[in-house]
Amino acid sequence: MKHFTSIHDVANLKELLAEAFLIKDNPFQHENLGKHRTMGLLFFNSSLRTRLSTQKAAQNLGMNTMVLNINEDSWKIETEFGVVMNGDKAEHIKEAAAVIGRYCDIIGVRSFPALKDRNADYSESVINQFIQYAGVPVVSMESATRHPLQSFADIITIEQYKKTERPRVLLAWAPHCRALPQSVPNSFAEWAVAAGYEVVITHPEGYELDPVFTRGATIEYDREKAYGNADFVYAKNWSSYCNYGKILCEDLAWTCNAKNMALTSHAKFMHCLPVRRNLVVSDEVIDSENSLVIEEAANRVVSAQTVLWKILQSI
Ligand code: CP
Repeated sequence: MKHFTSIHDVANLKELLAEAFLIKDNPFQHENLGKHRTMGLLFFNSSLRTRLSTQKAAQNLGMNTMVLNINEDSWKIETEFGVVMNGDKAEHIKEAAAVIGRYCDIIGVRSFPALKDRNADYSESVINQFIQYAGVPVVSMESATRHPLQSFADIITIEQYKKTERPRVLLAWAPHCRALPQSVPNSFAEWAVAAGYEVVITHPEGYELDPVFTRGATIEYDREKAYGNADFVYAKNWSSYCNYGKILCEDLAWTCNAKNMALTSHAKFMHCLPVRRNLVVSDEVIDSENSLVIEEAANRVVSAQTVLWKILQSI
């Protein structure tokens, strides 16, 4: 594995999952693999889980880590080409990526979409420029369109708890007070289909995701039908892809609550966190014994460590 930005960088998901469970059982079995190697973690946006779990994963492999909050701890970075840099952005991404590539053996990048210009966001210019100019492997720590470390952790969690070979996994849209990216649902749909699950996606009309990401999944607009017999419910808000970045629905009937969960096959509840209680999910659902959110977050270390383990073997 050279870079890790999506499921398409994974040659064999079953093999990667098998390694993930070995790492989960014994996190220090490769503690010298990353000795004298450095991982740089670059955050254009806020993080709790990604920041801590990816550092911990790198350190479990013996790597040194450096964390930089871009635009806060460092110079503000210009990501466009051909602009006269006479504003507040003092450094261009082309030099920044190349310089960081000289300090680091692997670079993790978190860069959210601006949700204003769909073509610009979906071109993934920030992470692609790091890949182009850094000269070292790049790991997505959530880009404009995908969150693969989260999705891998989600699949590890489902594998840990599933009771049937091919569980019915529901990705259920839920309301939110702010416009959020499509990166988590895009990515989750791709990984869940690749894992061979029966994947159902439910959302109000107008929240259709880019079909590139949902191929192999069933879109079910009837929420009650969609929740029916689900083994896992992954609740998540996202803003509209068609009416790009807009909030079209605030109906709290879409909150993942006990009434919706009662339709399922005693489903496990999942969410990537952070989550807004009683908006995305009711207290009784997230606090129930079927809630996997903490184990899911714990598996972020496993997913990151497995990906870094794989990359370290190729450098
Ligand atoms: N799930 C996730 O990526 O969490 P953070 O935004 O806190 O990193």
